Amino acid sequence: MSELTHVTLNAAGKAVDLPVLHPTLGQPCIEIARLPKETGCFTYDPGFGATASCKSAITYIDGDAGVLLYRGYPIEQLAEHSSFLEVAYLLMNGELPTREQFARFEHEVTHHSMMHEAFRTFLYGFRHDAHPMAMLTGMLGSLASFYHNDLNIEDPEQRRLAAIRLIAKVPTIAAACHRYSIGWPIRYPRNNLEYTTRFLHMMKEVPSEPLELNPVAAKAMDLLFILHADHEQNASTSTVRLVGSTGANPYVSVAAGVAALWGPAHGGANEAVLKMLEEIGRPENVGSAVARAKDKESGFRLMGFGHRVYKNFDPRAKIIREMCHKVLAELGVDDPLLEVAMRLEEAALKDEYFIQRKLYPNVDFYSGIIYKALGIPTEMFTVMFAIARTAGWVSHWLEQQEDPENRIGRPRQIYTGAGRRDFVPMPQR
Ligand code: ACO
Repeated sequence: MSELTHVTLNAAGKAVDLPVLHPTLGQPCIEIARLPKETGCFTYDPGFGATASCKSAITYIDGDAGVLLYRGYPIEQLAEHSSFLEVAYLLMNGELPTREQFARFEHEVTHHSMMHEAFRTFLYGFRHDAHPMAMLTGMLGSLASFYHNDLNIEDPEQRRLAAIRLIAKVPTIAAACHRYSIGWPIRYPRNNLEYTTRFLHMMKEVPSEPLELNPVAAKAMDLLFILHADHEQNASTSTVRLVGSTGANPYVSVAAGVAALWGPAHGGANEAVLKMLEEIGRPENVGSAVARAKDKESGFRLMGFGHRVYKNFDPRAKIIREMCHKVLAELGVDDPLLEVAMRLEEAALKDEYFIQRKLYPNVDFYSGIIYKALGIPTEMFTVMFAIARTAGWVSHWLEQQEDPENRIGRPRQIYTGAGRRDFVPMPQR
């Protein structure tokens, strides 16, 4: 069959030719930009399920085949052979680094990991029980006040530096938010440690004694960071791009991404999974939980199941499932929630309701259990996701700023309100 080059739309007797664009991988795309002019009609696609918002060379997903590629490299290979920081370089720059390039990148990230001391005052203004995602959103937004006047986003080198600063500072800020909420003194980043280990030290080390960190913990955290680093035009990345399309400062663009990530339908799901597993409590309660999830009246969904794009399986969930067992065994954690999780997965995968709707465990189903085993408090789970996704957000922001087709994002609507009517003065209403 010859390649589809255009489609013809018949609009009230007028034939309109629409070009078809072909990506390097994936489904062809009908370009509709001319449609309103030619037909007087817009298109309607709530939730953007059928609409590409940009061209991007960063991440490819085939939801039906369960494929995830970062810059062409399969997630399974990166999970096995790479590190989070190398993946961050790859996402930002398009190619894997040479030894020298990586050493330079690591040095730069390491040497931008400190926070301005004034940040403490800002942090201490939050209520002690503020949710860390609320703090992270505020703290990242406030970075724009530290790097504003001298930031010229037209300059590629300044854009690159902003991206490095974000990747470098997010773990420091995240750990500081956690420590503030539990009343521990803030720990400075230690330059002799690599990225993920440095973060775990900032989270866990008390001033009174050195921290003995199990290397399995750092390895597991690094793997989770790799798996969460990017996922093409998801809600938070699209938010970063929408804010970025206005020419806004990169720090507030990323802060907006953090806000979008917080929702339970997106990154907040890992926290919701753990709360759900705790609520279910025991393996024998799994059956009634599955029944409740199928009952639309209950308003209850199985958290960690289903995905907008993966309608077969989530390749990240496959890798995480294995890691989950390994971490629990090596750290000697005997967590009854894992038994609940296994039973739940088994029951849902056998159930017609879930099979018909292609609802499989997603990445968040297991990540919460691993975070729990690593001693990360539940309310910090989405913050972990945000640290990793910062690599993706800044890469998309960089790509967007260089894209000659970048325009301010401005969706249309189907107006369903009142027709034109005249103002009625208050006494006559
Ligand atoms: N439990 C029970 N039923 C579900 C679930 C679930 N987790 N997810 C979807 N369904 C049902 C819906 O009720 C709907 O049924 P219907 O066709 O009878 O009306 C059908 O499956 C399709 O669901 P949609 O909401 O249309 O699917 P969509 O692609 O819009 O949503 C989403 C995807 C938001 C992830 C959804 O599956 C969900 O809410 N899952 C739970 C939350 C979650 O785990 N989110 C994490 C996503 S991954 C990430 O952000 C890293």
